[in-house]
Amino acid sequence: MKVFLFNQKLSFLLRSFCFLFLVSSFLNTFVCATQHLCHFDQRDALLDFKKEFGIQKPTFVNFDVSSYPKTKSWVNKSDCCSWDGITCDATSGKVIGLDLSSSCLHGQLESNSSLFRLRHLRDLNLAYNNFTASPIPADFDKLMGLERLNLSHSSFSGPTPTKLLQLTKLVSLDLSYSSFSIDESFLRILAQNLRNLRELDMSNVNISSEIPRCNITEFPEFIKYRRSLGSLDLSNNKIKGQVPDWLWRLPELTDVNLSNNALRGYNGSFKASPRSQILSNNFTGEIPRSICGLSSLYVLDLSDNNLHGSIPWCLETQMISLVDLNLRHNRLSGNLPEVFMNAKNLGSLDVSHNQMEGKLPASLIGCSALEVLNVGSNRINDMFPFQLNSLQNLQVLVLRSNKFHGTLHNVDGVSFGFPQLKIIDLSHNEFVGTLPSDYFMNWTLMSSKRDNNREPEYIRNPRTYRYYTSLILTSKGVSMEMDRILTIYTSIDFSGNQLHGKIPNSIGLLKELRNLNMSSNSFTGHIPSSLANLTNLESLDLSQNKISGEIPFELGTLSSLEWINVSHNQLVGSIPQGTQFQRQKCSSYEGNPGLYGPSLKDVCGDIKAPTPPQSEPMETQEEEEESLSWIVAGLGFVPGVVFGLVMGHIVASYKYHWFMKTFG
Ligand SMILES: *[C@@H]1O[C@H](CO)[C@@H](O)[C@H](O)[C@H]1NC(C)=O
Ligand SMILES: *[C@@H]1O[C@H](CO)[C@@H](O)[C@H](O)[C@H]1NC(C)=O
Ligand SMILES: *[C@@H]1O[C@H](CO)[C@@H](O)[C@H](O)[C@H]1NC(C)=O
Ligand SMILES: *[C@@H]1O[C@H](CO)[C@@H](O)[C@H](O)[C@H]1NC(C)=O
Ligand SMILES: *[C@@H]1O[C@H](CO)[C@@H](O)[C@H](O)[C@H]1NC(C)=O
Ligand SMILES: *[C@@H]1O[C@H](CO)[C@@H](O)[C@H](O)[C@H]1NC(C)=O
Ligand SMILES: *[C@@H]1O[C@H](CO)[C@@H](O)[C@H](O)[C@H]1NC(C)=O
Ligand SMILES: *[C@@H]1O[C@H](CO)[C@@H](O)[C@H](O)[C@H]1NC(C)=O
Repeated sequence: MKVFLFNQKLSFLLRSFCFLFLVSSFLNTFVCATQHLCHFDQRDALLDFKKEFGIQKPTFVNFDVSSYPKTKSWVNKSDCCSWDGITCDATSGKVIGLDLSSSCLHGQLESNSSLFRLRHLRDLNLAYNNFTASPIPADFDKLMGLERLNLSHSSFSGPTPTKLLQLTKLVSLDLSYSSFSIDESFLRILAQNLRNLRELDMSNVNISSEIPRCNITEFPEFIKYRRSLGSLDLSNNKIKGQVPDWLWRLPELTDVNLSNNALRGYNGSFKASPRSQILSNNFTGEIPRSICGLSSLYVLDLSDNNLHGSIPWCLETQMISLVDLNLRHNRLSGNLPEVFMNAKNLGSLDVSHNQMEGKLPASLIGCSALEVLNVGSNRINDMFPFQLNSLQNLQVLVLRSNKFHGTLHNVDGVSFGFPQLKIIDLSHNEFVGTLPSDYFMNWTLMSSKRDNNREPEYIRNPRTYRYYTSLILTSKGVSMEMDRILTIYTSIDFSGNQLHGKIPNSIGLLKELRNLNMSSNSFTGHIPSSLANLTNLESLDLSQNKISGEIPFELGTLSSLEWINVSHNQLVGSIPQGTQFQRQKCSSYEGNPGLYGPSLKDVCGDIKAPTPPQSEPMETQEEEEESLSWIVAGLGFVPGVVFGLVMGHIVASYKYHWFMKTFG
């Protein structure tokens, strides 16, 4: 029966295909015959190019979540137009696009590289590979048809790549995160020659300040007459001075990122100014009211400046179009104004690390698309915002370090809501009361099992595809900044409140939970054994409560649990043997006079462990496999620490874990 169906389907498909083919052949007349067939010379050039490089796991400098060796699919059997990363011209069949970004390529790009035999290339993307500090070959001028070129995060270095300036057809150029020297004349000629340029990314180009007259200390004038420019990223350079008036008058400019420079402020008004402004710098003064006069601003990022005063009411007019509003880390004060009623497109609102007071605005319920709400580290004095229940897309809720008070369950029996919630941080507030036993019942997202073979992604706005900005989280005892928020990361932090009663058994439903911090409350009762169901749990902190009873032996099965702290409770008995529990520091258990046993002795040594009141069975041989998994799990931290990147350790570790698992 199945076979029959299949055949029928197949013949139907075949018939449809033939029909379509006939129609399209008819439409395309004779061109059709050679469609998408790779030219031999192009195929051989590609195969030779493949041979020029090794395949190696990316390092942190050129690491991208989606890395995999694309050239593996390049074999001399199939049509090269069907190979991964290749685009051919629909009629001529010539290779016009080569996207080898994040392909684990390793080696020098020589000037006689076969790449330069692909004369018809229009799009070339070599980002996120390791070209081992090779200079940009002079032969780039053979690719005169190039319209889009991306060499970012590729470890190119060496002298100024002047040959690139002859590619007069370029509309998009990305040289970010490369370390060749870029001097003033390079920028001047770039402005003169590349007249069609619409997108320019020169963020984090290690501009050498040793060459005289080359450090950009004033705002770079070279873009002043680039009237075609639509997107400009000069972030992470050393640009000083004011953001000049003329920048806002570039007619096509819609995206500007000037963050991480040493700019001191705006100059002039904002008429016809870019719709997306990322300006994290060292601006002082108040938020300029002229911002409100702009039309359809969609991203406003004034984070990490020195702005003071209140958030202007007039922003209400911007709220209709705004997708991302980030005012984090300033010195803003006053109430959050009631400006959100029409903020239907707002996906992320971050006013954390300011001095905001008063209550959360009721108009927040107008933000029906809100995914990230971060008001942490302010002085907001309010109850838990149950009314935001209607925000069905909320994924991240941070109320940390404010004066929130009252209970965490609605007395009217309204369920908690927030089906999409994956990160909730209520720590360091004044919440009181108990958590009912079914408290975690409807936390849909954290309880539904995720497909672990799917590659991790970052939370981003579904409409603009922009990633949301970073978040500071505490997990595994470390406070860290996640530069982007991974979709797989889930966390509950209720620490530092005055909650009491039992930790609800329903916690065991949250199978996707990775970080649980209930420390510094007044929880009583036993550690719920349902925690043993949280097979993804990596960090568990129950310290500084009044929890009694034994540590459930089932928790010993949680091999993912890297960090445990149950100190300063009233726990008794032995710690689970031969498990992650024995790989913790002694201080994870201190302040529990009733804890004893040989396994605790292993952790703390003889001195601290109290004499056991009864004899325990001898400890079994520690399994090698377990210690291995611990080492691998522990590794996640190391690179972040060693490289000292601003990148979140968590991000790094998840990216790496996933990568190791997939390609390791
Ligand atoms: C690919 O195979 C063809 C014959 O099928 C051969 O002529 C050609 O040299 C091969 N190319 C490479 C780069 O090996
Ligand atoms: C830029 O230079 C600094 C030190 O001068 C170096 O640590 C960093 O890796 C360089 N950045 C890139 C992208 O090469
Ligand atoms: C380069 O930087 C130094 C130190 O910041 C400064 O004194 C000098 O004037 C700058 N040169 C130019 C041409 O801007
Ligand atoms: C702006 O630049 C900063 C620093 O390079 C970067 O972290 C941020 O992601 C950029 N923002 C956007 C929206 O591209
Ligand atoms: C920011 O500006 C203040 C003065 O307004 C100055 O003291 C401080 O050093 C500046 N910070 C940076 C990183 O440039
Ligand atoms: C739990 O929260 C407390 C207080 O916020 C913090 O000090 C501790 O480091 C956190 N625990 C873990 C394991 O991150
Ligand atoms: C773990 O989950 C299973 C079903 O998913 C359930 O039957 C079991 O009782 C749970 N265990 C605990 C300790 O809650
Ligand atoms: C466990 O928590 C206690 C108190 O919160 C703290 O003093 C101790 O350093 C923590 N231990 C570890 C290993 O984090």
